[in-house]
Amino acid sequence: MLLRGIISSPLPSSLRLKTHKNLTVSAQIKTQPTSNNYSISDQALESRGFILRRTIDELNLDHLNSVFVAVGFPKRDPQKIRVALENTDSLLWVEYTKTSKPVAFARATGDGVFNAIIWDVVVDPSFQGIGLGKAVMERLIHQLLLKGICNIALYSEPRVLGFYRPLGFVADPDGIRGMVYSTRKQKQKK
Ligand SMILES: CC(C)(COP(=O)(O)OP(=O)(O)OC[C@H]1O[C@@H](n2cnc3c(N)ncnc32)[C@H](O)[C@@H]1OP(=O)(O)O)[C@@H](O)C(=O)NCCC(=O)NCCS
Repeated sequence: MLLRGIISSPLPSSLRLKTHKNLTVSAQIKTQPTSNNYSISDQALESRGFILRRTIDELNLDHLNSVFVAVGFPKRDPQKIRVALENTDSLLWVEYTKTSKPVAFARATGDGVFNAIIWDVVVDPSFQGIGLGKAVMERLIHQLLLKGICNIALYSEPRVLGFYRPLGFVADPDGIRGMVYSTRKQKQKK
């Protein structure tokens, strides 16, 4: 995700170099997931040992940080993560009951009425490929739609576009391109 990559949690330099030219990819949701058409129900997730959580009350930020690091995000200051999450409109995470640790996470910030942007979509590498990323995204989108938000954007790395497209996201809708003011870019100019 572009803003996550450049502003709030820069990627490691190897990934940045690979994806830098194509990073400015924004998307808007075009379809409307409902709780009736989730790919996997809350009950099915629970039967597999996964509990969906929508607040940070029981979220251990060090454990969340470990998931960020495990997928290649730099380790972030837990205090800053706390502030970011306190300023987040909607979030969703999945707890693995055997360890009580977060294994999937996504959050959205926004104006609460018109627009939202999704950030920090991560699944612990040991739990990837079993539907948790999709489960979290479907519910986060649904949560935002229930608030009446009709414009949901995110910034996708090129290698993840194929994950977001089936969820209803369209890159560069109507030719609209994302632009980012990056403090790193400004420093590079000097
Ligand atoms: C991208 C990520 C969130 C996907 O989560 P996941 O739990 O592994 O994905 P799921 O198992 O829910 O996959 C859902 C569907 O998306 C597909 N998919 C998953 N990752 C994909 C990718 N990178 N490209 C294309 N399709 C992908 C799966 O094949 C699956 O398809 P299906 O519904 O037809 O079976 C996870 O791999 C991750 O955390 N990656 C590292 C961090 C990252 O890149 N985050 C996104 C930053 S923009």
